[in-house]
Amino acid sequence: MHLLILNPSQIITVNTKGIGYKRGNELNNIETIEDHSLIIENNLIKDFIPNTSVKKNQFDLIIDAKDNIVMPGLVECHTHLVFSGSRADEFKQKLEGVSYEDISRSGGGINKTVNSVRETSFTKLFNIASKRVQHFIEQGVTTLEIKSGYGLDFENEIKLLKVINQLNKKFPIDIHSTFLGAHTIPKEFSNNRNGYIDLIINEMLPAINKEKLATACDAFCESTAFAKNEVDLIFNKAIELGLRCKLHTDQFNSIGGIDTALKNNAISVDHLEVITDDDISKFSDIDMVCVILPGVSYFLNHKYSPVKKLIDKNAIIALATDFNPGSSNISNISFIMSLAALKLGMSIEQIISAYTINSAKALNLSDKIGSLEIGKQADLSIYDTDNYADLIYQTTENLNIKTIKKGKVIFDKNGV
Ligand code: NIG
Ligand code: FE
Repeated sequence: MHLLILNPSQIITVNTKGIGYKRGNELNNIETIEDHSLIIENNLIKDFIPNTSVKKNQFDLIIDAKDNIVMPGLVECHTHLVFSGSRADEFKQKLEGVSYEDISRSGGGINKTVNSVRETSFTKLFNIASKRVQHFIEQGVTTLEIKSGYGLDFENEIKLLKVINQLNKKFPIDIHSTFLGAHTIPKEFSNNRNGYIDLIINEMLPAINKEKLATACDAFCESTAFAKNEVDLIFNKAIELGLRCKLHTDQFNSIGGIDTALKNNAISVDHLEVITDDDISKFSDIDMVCVILPGVSYFLNHKYSPVKKLIDKNAIIALATDFNPGSSNISNISFIMSLAALKLGMSIEQIISAYTINSAKALNLSDKIGSLEIGKQADLSIYDTDNYADLIYQTTENLNIKTIKKGKVIFDKNGV
C-alpha cells in the first residue's frame, strides 16, 4: 500500500531527530514543513517530498489535504476509562464544599466506583468502554493507555485488564493496559493494609505477568491511598516481573512519591499539582516524564501543576485527560489543551509536543510513534484548519477529520 497525503498547508512533524522526547524549551520546536506532501508505504512514514515533484500515478490512494494540517496521532497516555456507574452525587457534594479527599475518607470516591465495577459484567464494561475509546479515535488519538484500579480484588482487577486487552483487539489503535491495583485500599481491607499489599504482590502481579495482561504497573502515592514504602514494595515486585512503573503522586500531598519513582526508574510521574521546588529540580536531566493532568485541577477546583517551573528546569512534560468518573470526568482533548494554555501557561507548540512525542515517551513508545519521522509508524491525524492554533482556540471543537493508524484511515469525518 502506497499512500500520499497531498499538499497539506502544513505538516507538524514534532521531529526529535531520533531522540524521542522534547525537554524544557525544546517543547517549543514542533518542526513544521510547508509545501510538501507525505508518502506512507505500508505502515511506515516513507518520505516528505516537495509538492512540485509529486507523481500522482505512483500511489494506491491519495488523500487531498489542501488547507488542512497534518500532525502525529495524539497519544493519550493516562486514562481510567473502563468504569461503570456515576459519581454525580459526589460531584454535587463537592459543589456544596465537601472535598475529594473527605469523600474518599468516608468510603466514597474510588471505592464507590469499585462497588459498581464489581457488579458490572465483562460484556457490559466492554460495551461502555468501547464508546469511550471510539470517542478518542474520533479526536485523532492513535495510541491510548487505560488503567485498571476499580476492581481492587483479584477477580475484578483481572476482569478490568481483560476488558482493556479485548478493547485492544477490537479497535485499530494500540491500547496499552496499566495495572493499578494500588489505587486505594479496598473497604474489606481497611483494617488490614498489609493484607491488601500482600495480595497485590503475591497473587495479582504474578497472575498478570503470567497472562501478560499489563505492560506497566501504576500506584497512587497519597495520604488517602499508599505510602512511599508501600509503593516501593509493589514496584520492587513489578520490576522483578519485568514491568515498568508509573506513579500518581503529589496530587494533594507531597509524601515522598517522587523519590520512590526515581528509585524505581519509573517511566512517568503523573499529577504533580503540589510538587515541591526541590523535587522540580530533580527533572533537569533525567528521562522520566512528568504527565500533567489539568482536567483534574479544573474538575476538583484544585491547584494547577507548576508546569512553567518544570519547563524552566528542563523537564519532559506530557499532557493527558486522566479521564475517570471522580477527578476528571473529561474526555475532550481540545478542552484539556485549552486548560493547558490558559491555566498552565503553556504555549500552543509546547502543548502539541506534550500530547504527541512526550506522551509517547510516557508509554515508553517514542522510538516508534509520537512524531512524523521517516521510518516511524504512520500514525497521524488530519485537521480541518490551516492554523494549528485553532486546535486550542476552537475550544471543545473537534477539528479532526481523519485519523490514520499504521497507514490506514480508521476514522473519516465524512465516512470511510
Ligand atoms: O488520577 N488520583 C487517583 N486516581 C484518579 C482518580 C480516580 C477516581 O477518583 O475515581 C486520578 O485522579
Ligand atoms: Fe489517574
